[in-house]
Order: sequence, then structure tokens, then C-alpha cells
Amino acid sequence: MNVGKDELVGQSAAMRDVRRLIEIAAPAKTTVLVLGETGTGKELVARSVHAQSARKGGLVSVNCSAIPADLLESELFGYEKGAFTGAEKTRHGRFEMASGGTLFLDEIGDMPLPLQAKLLRAIETKHIQRVGGGKDIPIDLRLVCATHQNIEADIEAGKFRADLYYRINVFPIKLPTLAERSVDIPQIITALCRAIEAQGEVAGMPQFDETAMQEFTRYPWPGNVRELRNVIERACLLFPDKAIDGKKVREHLVRLRAPEVSEEQDALWAATADLDPPSDETETNAEMPLPHPSHYRDWFAYFDAIDVRRHLQEVEIVLIEAALEKSNGMISHAADALKLRRTTLIEKMKKFMIEKPVN
Ligand SMILES: Nc1ncnc2c1ncn2[C@@H]1O[C@H](COP(=O)(O)OP(=O)(O)OP(=O)(O)O)[C@@H](O)[C@H]1O
Ligand SMILES: [Mg+2]
Repeated sequence: MNVGKDELVGQSAAMRDVRRLIEIAAPAKTTVLVLGETGTGKELVARSVHAQSARKGGLVSVNCSAIPADLLESELFGYEKGAFTGAEKTRHGRFEMASGGTLFLDEIGDMPLPLQAKLLRAIETKHIQRVGGGKDIPIDLRLVCATHQNIEADIEAGKFRADLYYRINVFPIKLPTLAERSVDIPQIITALCRAIEAQGEVAGMPQFDETAMQEFTRYPWPGNVRELRNVIERACLLFPDKAIDGKKVREHLVRLRAPEVSEEQDALWAATADLDPPSDETETNAEMPLPHPSHYRDWFAYFDAIDVRRHLQEVEIVLIEAALEKSNGMISHAADALKLRRTTLIEKMKKFMIEKPVN
């Protein structure tokens, strides 16, 4: 789902700067380097740069971290017939496909070193060679690169070529984290709700009150706008047409616990698990069979990575809270229901800062 067409929502000073930089850079052929944490909108910036560039060709994207290193070269530069076993006919690479348009090299920080040398040569000479071919092929494209990595640190560590960095870091656009522009959150939520409503797949929009908005604005959003989008989509499914206040946000949508300093990071991650939180509705489904562990097999179809430790911890918290609620706060009954020893349950409650429900 996308909010509008390539629309970077937000009236914060930081977001206005970003839009202004895009406007300045787009019409030129300058290489743009988009920097920012995960989920801050780097791809959206790349699309906007292309859309505002008036370049006639298309936008061709390559995610350098998603393509295995040994395939990336032929993906980028193409190959000649007979270049390797299975190369039955000549194939154009993404550089050639992007000719006349824009090539978006996403996660360029993950590009293997040998390929970095080839990329550098392509940028400097404006020519490429297909794998297994000796001919120089001219390329005419606008390059946009993005990374969530700290490339300067990668250079120090010998993982990224300094000369390539200087070639791609011509016009950097750095995206702020969502926490740095929390004033934009209400507007982004409105835009997200509108987009979801327009798709017509949910029964009605949840109504966030003032305290809910405060909670959203306070939350640190380690997954940035992508995480906010997931939370809002989840809210639409769980609470269609319902009023949502700050308490509901805290308990069901963003799970932030006041942790000890050493546990802070863990709690933050636990708070952002991309799984459905407990809802009032699920509690009535006591007869439902437990989800079978094999269901998790499909998860990589939806997520690039799954933090197993964080996820299992989140499941544990949900089950403990549900057991305590079911037993009206009687710890020994809850422990029986969870097949845990009473002392183990108490330890876990301390660890996860779970309070006994008060009647
Ligand atoms: N300013 C914004 N306004 C509205 N939606 C946004 C904004 N920034 C990001 N989004 C939305 O958030 C999601 C994540 O954005 P995007 O994929 O561009 O992030 P990214 O920085 O490329 O993330 P990653 O590093 O994980 O690849 C997308 O659905 C995008 O539409
Ligand atoms: Mg991206």
C-alpha cells in the first residue's frame, strides 16, 4: 500500500528540506545518494527524484542486498550468449534497461568489493561491458543510490571503496528518523488512513483520540514510517470503526515498557514485533486450536528478516498476560495454565515487567 503517488507527507522543517532538495536535484543528471535509517522513505525519495526528473526512460531498481553476490554482476551489466553455462542468449543488464531513465541502486552499502570496482569504472567511463563481452556499451542514465549503512564507517573497515563513495556522494539527501520529526506523525496517520480507506478493504476507520495521538508521538519508532504504517494497518484490522485512546495504543498497538537501562534495547525491540497484538476479540476464541508452529514457515514470504528472540519473547508476554487475566491475577492458577512453575512465572513477570491485573 502506498500513500498517494510517491508522496512524502510531512510539514516538519526536516521534511520540507528533503522535498526542496529533491526539487533541486531532480532536473539535473547529478547522482543522488539517499541516506537514512530503515523505513524512513529512501525508496520514496528515489521514486520522487525520478518522477520529477522528466527523464523519458523508466526507473529501474536493483536491491544490491537482495541479489546473491555472484548473480549481481550479470544482473547489473547483463551477459553475452555463451558467457557461462546456461547463458543461451544475450541478456541486457539493469544498466542498459535504465538507459534514458534512472537506475536506483538500493542498499549500495552491501555491494561486494569486486563489483564496486566495476561500478566505479562504469560511472567514470559511462560505459559498461556485459559479462563475457569485450565491447564497451555506452550508457546514459541518472544514478540514485541509497543505503541505511554508515558508509564512512564501512570505508574505515575496508568494506567500501572510498573512491566509489566520492563518486556517488555528489548530492546527498539524508532522511530524518520519524522520531526526529514526530510533529509529522498525525499528518502521516491521516494520509495512511485515507489510503487504507480508499482501498475499501476494511469495515471502517478506527478513531484515534488526542491521547492516542500523544502516545504515537511519544513512541520512538525504531522502524520509522514503515513501522507506523504497519501499526496503522493493524489498527484498521483489529479496531475497525472503534474509538482508540492512548491506553489502547500502548496495550495493543505499540508495546513499550519502561525498562531498566540494560533492558532498554530489548524492550524497544519487543515493542515493535510485527505480529498481531492480543485483541479483545481473540480472547473469546478459547476453543480455537493453537497456531501450529509450521505456520511460521511462510513468514519469510512477508518479512525479509525475523528477529526470533524478540518474536518469541513477545509471544511469551502475550501468553503470560492472557493467563493472568484468565486466572483473575491468581499467580498459581496462571502458572498451571502455562504449565510453568509458580516461581518461574514470577521471574518471568519481573523480567518482562508484567503486573498482576487488578480486579
Ligand atoms: N514521508 C512519508 N510520507 C508518507 N509515507 C512515507 C513517508 N516516508 C516513508 N513512507 C512510507 O513508509 C514505507 C517505507 O518507506 P521506504 O520503503 O521508502 O523506506 P526505506 O527507507 O527504503 O526503507 P528500507 O531501508 O527498509 O528499505 C513505505 O510504505 C512508504 O510509502
Ligand atoms: Mg528501501
